[in-house]
Amino acid sequence: MKTIHVRSSKGDYKILVGKNLLPRAGTFLSDVFESQSKLMVVSQKNLTPYLNPILASLKKQGFKVQTHMLPDGERAKSEKELFRLIQTLLAKGFERKDGMVAVGGGVVSDLTGFAASVYLRGIRYVNVATTLLAQVDSAIGGKTAIDLPEGKNLVGSFWPPALVISDVRVLQSLPERELSASLAEVVKYGMIRDTELFGFLEKNGRRILQRDLNALEKIILLSAGIKARVVSSDEFETKGERMILNYGHTFGHGIEGALCYGKLVHGEAVAIGMMMGAQLAADLGICPRELIWRQMKVLLSFKLPVSIKRFHLKTEAILKVMMKDKKKSQGLLRFVLPRRIGQVTVEQKIPVSLIQKIIRLAGGK
Ligand SMILES: NC(=O)c1ccc[n+]([C@@H]2O[C@H](COP(=O)([O-])OP(=O)(O)OC[C@H]3O[C@@H](n4cnc5c(N)ncnc54)[C@H](O)[C@@H]3O)[C@@H](O)[C@H]2O)c1
Ligand SMILES: [Zn+2]
Repeated sequence: MKTIHVRSSKGDYKILVGKNLLPRAGTFLSDVFESQSKLMVVSQKNLTPYLNPILASLKKQGFKVQTHMLPDGERAKSEKELFRLIQTLLAKGFERKDGMVAVGGGVVSDLTGFAASVYLRGIRYVNVATTLLAQVDSAIGGKTAIDLPEGKNLVGSFWPPALVISDVRVLQSLPERELSASLAEVVKYGMIRDTELFGFLEKNGRRILQRDLNALEKIILLSAGIKARVVSSDEFETKGERMILNYGHTFGHGIEGALCYGKLVHGEAVAIGMMMGAQLAADLGICPRELIWRQMKVLLSFKLPVSIKRFHLKTEAILKVMMKDKKKSQGLLRFVLPRRIGQVTVEQKIPVSLIQKIIRLAGGK
């Protein structure tokens, strides 16, 4: 087992990465909660096989354990589910010293984290991350949220977990598409910060897709390490540092929005967004053209899409969503662009005509 440290103004915390960690959950949580504390384990039906060893271990440690199941999918990040969870906590008499354990992917931890941040003005929670996306991204950094009918993640808080547990074994049962989509974020980490990680992805595509535990553990450690360093130095997204995590996301959000969040999952849109970003960087003379091909080869090896041709999307539709995003970020359309593998720069004065050209090159109509 390896440990990554995260700094946070609300208390530093650890990310534990390894194999077979779930049966040891009780021991790990005894560093966070006093024995006899009540713990609400929040999860989903898909995760039942992993819940049993966790529950047994928590009970063995002396915790008073309850479970609360959420529906599957994004609809769990709703006002209704938020209050259902809060009312369960109230009914079971949870106090400030008690806590929650989110066992699942980004959906479970975003909702649990947000509930933890507002229940009795804040209780502690632990993330047991079960998707690759959660292990490299959403379980780390303390961003929590629910969705509104008007849009995703519109109500939320910065409320860091007290501990993150990432057991690579649970990834064996992850649906293939989920695995591939999360790998787009791993490629992102390589592109923005880590030539070693990128080189490893180039050489080990097959091993990773076959879910070789050592290969998975290595990419999780490197990726989670990057996210941990970035959020430790820019916890509240005020210094610009955290922005580099948006590589591929400006175009990606445009694509997701134009598709009305159908057909492509987030990571797939990010993969195409990174291709657009690399193309834009090359056109601006910021990076060598060769980088486009290296990035494309890695994305294709993870069965990720690299163009929007088959969706018959209008360039203007994508641009419109991107401009709406821009209004939310002080009127600036900022792009995180690669200089070379492992290094990015932020550019903001890009002519709209060039953005249109890039979208068309990727298959926009
Ligand atoms: N807070 C953040 O910083 C942050 C960052 C990125 C994304 N997010 C949020 O994360 C969410 C997406 O998270 P996600 O991709 O983890 O999806 P998810 O949580 O919806 O999980 C995907 C599916 O896989 C199932 N599942 C989870 N672990 C499994 C396992 N080990 N084996 C089999 N099935 C498993 C889940 O039950 C679900 O059906 C979005 O709501 C997004 O907004 C948050
Ligand atoms: Zn993302």
